[in-house]
Amino acid sequence: MNGKVFVVTGITGGNGGAVSKELLRRGFSVIGVGRNVKKIQRFECWAKQMGLEQRLDVVRADLSYETDRQRIIRQVENLGCPIAGVFHLAGRALFGNPEAEKVTAFEQSDFYGPVALMKALLPFIAEQGIISVNTSGAARINASTYPHYCRVKQWMEEWCDEMRLDSMVQEHQISMTLILMGVIATQIWDVPDHGVQPWMSRAIKAFMPSAERCAPKIVADSFDRRMESHVGRLASVIAHSPAFVLRGMESLVDLTIKTTIDY
Ligand SMILES: NC(=O)c1ccc[n+]([C@@H]2O[C@H](COP(=O)([O-])OP(=O)(O)OC[C@H]3O[C@@H](n4cnc5c(N)ncnc54)[C@H](OP(=O)(O)O)[C@@H]3O)[C@@H](O)[C@H]2O)c1
Repeated sequence: MNGKVFVVTGITGGNGGAVSKELLRRGFSVIGVGRNVKKIQRFECWAKQMGLEQRLDVVRADLSYETDRQRIIRQVENLGCPIAGVFHLAGRALFGNPEAEKVTAFEQSDFYGPVALMKALLPFIAEQGIISVNTSGAARINASTYPHYCRVKQWMEEWCDEMRLDSMVQEHQISMTLILMGVIATQIWDVPDHGVQPWMSRAIKAFMPSAERCAPKIVADSFDRRMESHVGRLASVIAHSPAFVLRGMESLVDLTIKTTIDY
């Protein structure tokens, strides 16, 4: 890798925040992307306390919007040198009301927007750079309670496969790593607006690994140019299970969600 700068989406979130910290601690610079102003300020405060603020730039941007994505591209253009890669770790929760209008917004924010950003960043990525893209165990199942979430994750996996054949990706030897996440204790599981029961959030926080614990593996597997990285509880099981086990898990997840969510 020639470059020393990574673009990380979701810097205000659990996984994006933890991976950004890991990269900064390893001596890289980060152009982080987030929306929530307070969380951006909290991250910048942390960087200042650690004496890392010189290597951090945060762009406030919603990946759904072209104008916002352009601001990220401009920030990268202004560097005047290639970046080492992109970690796409932003994304919405699987919960929510999958009615038509919201599904369109979901697809825009979790698939079309991020894909447009990563394609636009491609010419700025150094030779042997990396692109790491989050996906979920949900991509391997088709749970009927949250088909919109499963669908965008499946699309993302297919897009990564396609990108491996892209002429620029091949010519510049850019690696595409899929981060297949199981369950990781982040704020994504706190969605009281959609009626997720507090016991579920509490249980996940108590028994599931934190984003801080998973971040070193996400970074190491991406640097090792692996095609897939399995992080978080159940990720490996989902990744290696035969179809009939996944069908069983799908029914179990569906049932749990149906009985814990009040749309
Ligand atoms: N945690 C898990 O158990 C788990 C399991 C499987 C897959 N995943 C996937 O991992 C990804 C990150 O999850 P997480 O647990 O880190 O979630 P999180 O803590 O809730 O963080 C989500 C991040 O995504 C950002 N974001 C969401 N929509 C965005 C948009 N339209 N434009 C820009 N930023 C946007 C949020 O920004 P703001 O906060 O600034 O709005 C936040 O930084 C998600 O795609 C999720 O599906 C997580």
